[in-house]
Amino acid sequence: TRKIIFDTDPGQDDAVALLLAIASPAEIEILGVTTVAGNVPLDLTSRNARVICELGGRPDLPVHAGCDAPLARKLVTAENVHGSTGLDGIELRPPRQPLAEGHAVDFIIDTLRREPAGTVTLVAVGPLTNVATAFDRAPDIIPRVAEVVIMGGAYFEVGNVTPAAEFNIYVDPEAADLVFRAGVPLTIMPLDVTHRALTDRAWVDGIRAVGTRVGEAVASWTDFFERYDKAKYNSEGAPLHDPCAVAWLIKPELFSGKKINVVVETRGEFTAGMTVADWWGVTERQPNAMFIRDVDREGFFALLTERIGRLGRG
Ligand code: BDR
Ligand code: CA
Repeated sequence: TRKIIFDTDPGQDDAVALLLAIASPAEIEILGVTTVAGNVPLDLTSRNARVICELGGRPDLPVHAGCDAPLARKLVTAENVHGSTGLDGIELRPPRQPLAEGHAVDFIIDTLRREPAGTVTLVAVGPLTNVATAFDRAPDIIPRVAEVVIMGGAYFEVGNVTPAAEFNIYVDPEAADLVFRAGVPLTIMPLDVTHRALTDRAWVDGIRAVGTRVGEAVASWTDFFERYDKAKYNSEGAPLHDPCAVAWLIKPELFSGKKINVVVETRGEFTAGMTVADWWGVTERQPNAMFIRDVDREGFFALLTERIGRLGRG
């Protein structure tokens, strides 16, 4: 079992990712959820994270609110994709659980200092502000991190917020730069992969047919999320970006990639937030990340259906 801290900005795909982790206790133990401003402002991501934990039957999971703005820039949000609540698609009751006490950054630092070195994985599926702030404030935790798994970046596939940049990296490139240079084991799940993990009608119908409240929520979120991609990319389905990062922890054999050097562009006039991936090894820069390139789509959706189907039955 891998112990994780789930750092997130929900977000419909964040929600599915968190439910996938909750549904996989044999592989993943969630120590806590930390929220960051991203898809929507921090108060909403913090609310949504608790709604998801409760929906998934884990109201006991501590949810710590984190940074409300990027390190050095104004926050850019994505209500155009996720709706005004960040979790549009189905009406869910407001959370009953209060936020856990303590800032997300302190929770990350304290947890990494407390748990044995090399046993805690950070799964970051929003802008990297919390993780970067923790590394900056407490560099002693860096060698204690087992791995940072991020959904973010794009290389062969173009960006989704500018021609060069993917949203999570674009929102806080300085944070991403700090994390990418930190020297931690890093796995990057870029758009190149997640745009292959597109839902289709049969899958959404199948998830709805599991007949649980969780299944209904996942189907409704996916339907809402899809409307954007359909209009924009003429794509038949919605990309389930963030669940790919969790699926990597459960079944790495579904993915392929290689260890390469990846740096983040922080200054480019047109390319701020770009992940520059040295896939062909044309620089002297040392590999710092496992850069995922492909996913077994069928296997991924089969895993998701099986796991989501476990929730909300008791
Ligand atoms: C990423 O940006 C967000 O909108 C999604 O939740 C995902 O984490 C995709 O670019
Ligand atoms: Ca996200």
